[in-house]
Amino acid sequence: MALLNILCYPDPRLYTIARSVAEVTPEIITLIDDMIETMYDSNGIGLAATQVDVHQRIIVIDVSDNRESPIVLINPEIVWAHPDRVKGDEGCLSVPNTYDSIERALEIKVAAMDKTGQTREIHAKELLAVCVQHEMDHLEGKVFVDYLSTLKRNRIKTKMLKLQREQSR
Ligand code: NI
Repeated sequence: MALLNILCYPDPRLYTIARSVAEVTPEIITLIDDMIETMYDSNGIGLAATQVDVHQRIIVIDVSDNRESPIVLINPEIVWAHPDRVKGDEGCLSVPNTYDSIERALEIKVAAMDKTGQTREIHAKELLAVCVQHEMDHLEGKVFVDYLSTLKRNRIKTKMLKLQREQSR
């Protein structure tokens, strides 16, 4: 297994729309295992392939306390969304140390392939519902800060670029 490099906002590659996965190949399995390892190593609760510069529709999530229950969603599709929406603070491994309140559907049902290639449906509530919607946005080339005002987003952009300049010194 290997740790993958996570793209940092405002990297333009985060705005790529991901392609569907046709088949779960050994290469896809390796990518998934590396994504899970990278997510745990970064203390994240979710990671989309887009964030590691692989533009295929794959996300990994673990909202459990023990951090031993990863969920893999390949080609996820929302098949039902609760009409009620809730606001909650979100962060993102691609936008370090930045949190803001985002509105999401309260609950969703998602159909997706798992690591074995089986299509399953999950009913996501609470933190899992938020996380799935956040990660699915990445596959559409959308970062959570894109929901914020231009003013806030520009502030975050400036902060991130400064951070990246300091780190590359
Ligand atoms: Ni994210």
